[in-house]
Amino acid sequence: MPGLEQALAEIAAEMAQRTDRGDVAGYIPQLSKIDPMKFGMAAVTNEGQVILAGDADQPFSIQSVSKVFTLTLALGKVGDGLWRRVGREPSGNPFNSIIQLEHENGIPRNPFINAGAIVVSDVLLAGHQPREAIGEILRFIRSLADDDTIIIDREVAASERATGYRNFAAAHYMKSFDNIHHAPELALGVYFHHCAIAMSCRQLAMAGRFLANAGRSPASGHTVVSAERARRIAALMLTCGHYDGSGDFAFRVGIPAKSGVGGGILAIVPGVASLAVWSPGLNANGNSKLGSIALEKLARAMNWSVFAP
Ligand code: DON
Repeated sequence: MPGLEQALAEIAAEMAQRTDRGDVAGYIPQLSKIDPMKFGMAAVTNEGQVILAGDADQPFSIQSVSKVFTLTLALGKVGDGLWRRVGREPSGNPFNSIIQLEHENGIPRNPFINAGAIVVSDVLLAGHQPREAIGEILRFIRSLADDDTIIIDREVAASERATGYRNFAAAHYMKSFDNIHHAPELALGVYFHHCAIAMSCRQLAMAGRFLANAGRSPASGHTVVSAERARRIAALMLTCGHYDGSGDFAFRVGIPAKSGVGGGILAIVPGVASLAVWSPGLNANGNSKLGSIALEKLARAMNWSVFAP
């Protein structure tokens, strides 16, 4: 694609120079050890071009980016019935906030805040042991990325389980409203493990291809979800993918994207490309600081936006 390779290289070179890199997530001990100087970016076009820059082949903890894939799987299992247990509105609150849960009877605002993703994990547990549900999520992501080397970082999962007090609180609180159907510890086990999946920018951009291509894998033509469902998942990414920073991200970047506290972002240019960026330092909303800036620059350079043709 004309200009894409050069744009990625220029942005990566510019990001390497920046000293204002944000702060790595301190509340998950394993993540606090990551080098904030890392920066990677990958673009996979619908035509099959793969363009990489910086540390694009180094795996990192995808954290909340995994929620795009667990949502996709849960919709495949229970369809629109999911929306009886999780909302579709931006929360306007931090990703780990629990204050809305009391007012809204244990129904989380959307599937991307922690509480919503824990309900999605509970849905994926139905009929399974946690180990099987985790295996199903990992197999799904491997098949999307066409890469069997993707693994779960057990130390990150254990680190989260040891310190995830707010997630425990949210899960138990939702259980009191009958919106968690299994033991909260089991739903949390699934949740902590999918957040601890490690992927590189290349693998993440590959896994996102179906969202950029109307629900189909551009390589095999295989249908992952319907075109309508792909549009809806992208709509949730745009409105809820950056928590209380979602409005600002839509304003600045203008394409659907989902962030994680590991510093990764998966972004979708519908009909054109799947993008992934990684820079571990976070802004005040817990989203990758340089990752957001890099996507803003790339979208501007390529004239990409869902708000204009
Ligand atoms: O539960 C948590 O807090 C993390 N496993 C995931 C949070 C996250 O990635 C929020 N993203 N910006």
